[in-house]
Amino acid sequence: MSKGLALITGGAGFIGSHTAVELLRVGYTVRVLDNLSPPVHIGDGSWPDWLSADVERVAGDVRNREDWAKALRGVDVVIHLAAYQDLLRNFSQFFHVNSVGTALLYELIVAEKLPVRKVVVASSQFVYGEGRYQCAKDGEVFPDGRDPQRLAKGLWEPVCPKCRGPIKSLPLLETHAGPENQYSISKYSQELMAVALGRNYGIPSVALRYSIVQGPHQSFRNAYSGVLRIFTLQMMKGRRPSVFEDGQQLRDYVNVGDVARANRLALESDAANYEVFNVGGGRGYTVVEFARIVGETLGVNLEPNISGEYRVGDTRHSVSDISKLQRLGWQPTKTPRDSVRDYVEWIRRQKLDKDYAGEALTKLREMGVLRKAT
Ligand SMILES: NC(=O)c1ccc[n+]([C@@H]2O[C@H](COP(=O)([O-])OP(=O)(O)OC[C@H]3O[C@@H](n4cnc5c(N)ncnc54)[C@H](O)[C@@H]3O)[C@@H](O)[C@H]2O)c1
Repeated sequence: MSKGLALITGGAGFIGSHTAVELLRVGYTVRVLDNLSPPVHIGDGSWPDWLSADVERVAGDVRNREDWAKALRGVDVVIHLAAYQDLLRNFSQFFHVNSVGTALLYELIVAEKLPVRKVVVASSQFVYGEGRYQCAKDGEVFPDGRDPQRLAKGLWEPVCPKCRGPIKSLPLLETHAGPENQYSISKYSQELMAVALGRNYGIPSVALRYSIVQGPHQSFRNAYSGVLRIFTLQMMKGRRPSVFEDGQQLRDYVNVGDVARANRLALESDAANYEVFNVGGGRGYTVVEFARIVGETLGVNLEPNISGEYRVGDTRHSVSDISKLQRLGWQPTKTPRDSVRDYVEWIRRQKLDKDYAGEALTKLREMGVLRKAT
C-alpha cells in the first residue's frame, strides 16, 4: 500500500530526482512539478533521462496558481525544491519564483482546505551570510559581508565587526541567519513562511538549510554550479583547477543521497515540525583539499591555479553544525570523495558539447562577479 502521494516541485532537477528515488523506494507515490527551465534543462520541454520512469510528471511553473492547483490535487505531502538560483541581477525573479511561489503553495492549501499533512521547503547554507566567528576580545561575533576594499587587496579573512581584530570561524547554527544577496534573502523568506504560515494555519512544515550538495545529475550547464563541476570539467581537459582567493576557504559538502534521506526524515518526523535544520557533511575542507580529491579521483596531477581571483559576495568559511538533525537520527553516510567519484562516473557519460566550465568563468568575469585582487 502506498504511503501517500508526494509532490516534489523541481523534481526534474538534481536534488529532486534523487529525492524521488528515495520516496519511491520507501513506498510513496511520487508526482513531480517542474517547468523544465534552461540552463539546467535543454529548453525543449523534454524531461531529463535521469528522472525515474515511475513518477507522474506535471509540466508547470510554481509562479502559476493553476499549475499549483493541478499539481496539488490529491497530494498528501510536499517537498518544495523548485527555485531560481543564479548570480544574475534580475533581482525580482528570485522573489517571484522562490518567495511568491512558496506563498502561493500556502495560499492554495489554506484557500482550498487541502489535506496536505506536511511541507518540506529547501533553504540553503547561504542564508547565514558570512556566518559565525570567535574573536579573542569580543567573543562570538557575526560579521557583515567582507569589505570589497579589503578583498581587492587580497585580504581574505573577515575581521571582528567590533574591534577589527582577527577572528576564527565557528560552525553555523540554525539559531542565526544573515542573508546578504538576492538568492539568500529569497531563500530565507521561504523558511520564514514555512515556519510561520505553517504554524499559523496548522500545516506541519520544515525548512532545510542544505550545505553544498554533490553527486550525479548536478547541472553542468548553469553559471552558479560550484567547485565540483568547475574542477572536474577543467581537469578532464588537462587544465589546472581555478581556485579562488588563496584556496584556504572552508566549506562542507554533503552527498545528494544523504540529502534525499534528510528530506524523507523531515517529511516523516513530527519532531521536525516548524523547525529549521542544517543538512551538511559535518566536516570542513579547504578548497585546495577539495581540488586534490577531484584530481586524485580523475587520476591526474594538476596543481591548483591560485590566481587571486575572488567572487564578490562569497563567504570566507561556511561549515554547518549538523547536530540538530543528527538528534533526529540522520547521519551523512558518504564523504566528498564518494560524491566526487559518483559525479565523475556520471559526467563521463554526459554529452559535453561546449566548454561549460570556461564559459561559466567568462560569464562571471563579464558580470563583474569574478574579480582579481591587486
Ligand atoms: N544544489 C545545492 O548545492 C543546493 C544547496 C542549497 C540549497 N539548494 C536548494 O535546493 C533546491 C533544489 O536545488 P537543485 O540543486 O536540485 O537545483 P536544480 O536546478 O538542479 O533543480 C531545480 C529544479 O527546479 C525547476 N524549476 C526552476 N524554476 C521553476 C519554476 N518557476 N517552476 C517550476 N519548476 C522550476 C528546474 O527546472 C529544476 O528542475 C533549490 O531550492 C535550491 O535553492 C541546493
